[in-house]
Amino acid sequence: MHIKAQDLGYTYMKNTPFEKKALDGVNLEIKEGSRVAIVGHTGSGKSTLVQHMNGLLIPSEGSLTAGEMEIRPGTKQKTLSKLRQRVGMVFQFPEHQLFDETVEKDVAFGPMNFGLTREEACGRGRDALRKVGLHDESLYKKSPFELSGGQMRRVAIAGVLASEPEMLILDEPTAGLDPEGRVKMMELFSGWQKESEARSYVLVTHHMEDAATYADYIFVMHQGTVVLEGSPEVVFSHEERLQQWGLGVPKTTKLLIELSKKANTPINVASFSVEDTAKEIVRLLKGDKRDV
Ligand SMILES: Nc1ncnc2c1ncn2[C@@H]1O[C@H](COP(=O)(O)OP(=O)(O)O)[C@@H](O)[C@H]1O
Ligand SMILES: [Mg+2]
Repeated sequence: MHIKAQDLGYTYMKNTPFEKKALDGVNLEIKEGSRVAIVGHTGSGKSTLVQHMNGLLIPSEGSLTAGEMEIRPGTKQKTLSKLRQRVGMVFQFPEHQLFDETVEKDVAFGPMNFGLTREEACGRGRDALRKVGLHDESLYKKSPFELSGGQMRRVAIAGVLASEPEMLILDEPTAGLDPEGRVKMMELFSGWQKESEARSYVLVTHHMEDAATYADYIFVMHQGTVVLEGSPEVVFSHEERLQQWGLGVPKTTKLLIELSKKANTPINVASFSVEDTAKEIVRLLKGDKRDV
């Protein structure tokens, strides 16, 4: 799904003493089939922005276009149920989204809500549960609240996938997971995206490594607006600016920047994987001073 924000602004609790302008003049475009990351300090407006992408929030100013739907101040949320079906939202701590009596019913809820029969919805739900790695069917009749934390999170994600969205909004979906759990979860989303050219995701993350590994394009937010955007190579070449906004660069990039300074030689710092970083270090050790 193609997304375009034009001069998008959003104010919480408008016309009250608690009024808070969370977004101001956001312009961005996300192409169909892309893998995008949004990074920024806490409070920079990331969650507010992504909640516009499936119509959970309606702009206070400007507009957001999602596919052929243009959402402007005054657009009624009721008219956006189709958009919710096409853009699935995985929040931080997705397990808090669970609510139904059994795992099976919980995952079938979305597709039923979007008009499928119970049987069709259960079928979709089972497919989604297998996709997230929950193959043990004895779990399906249990209450989601009897499961382990990791299983609960997987059920919640299956519930989002069961509606077969074209786009996933992932708002810090790996919060609280250990490094191994984080990789597993990100590989799940990455694999899902690769299954079809039309699929895309927007990943909100604090982990620069994840942004570098799982996004082709990154938007940096600061105080409610987009201050920098580009490929990971471009964004992470601005280490000093990122620092001003309270952000870092991936550890591999940091290592190469330091080596480059100490060895007083230019280095291609846009190597995010450990493998590429190792190659760059070997090149340096061999004294190969090709221009980078
Ligand atoms: N429900 C809300 N009511 C009032 N202010 C809010 C609400 N949600 C977020 N904010 C404020 O809006 C700003 C942006 O918040 P948010 O979009 O959650 O940022 P991020 O996801 O980058 O941490 C912050 O100043 C935050 O305090
Ligand atoms: Mg947030």
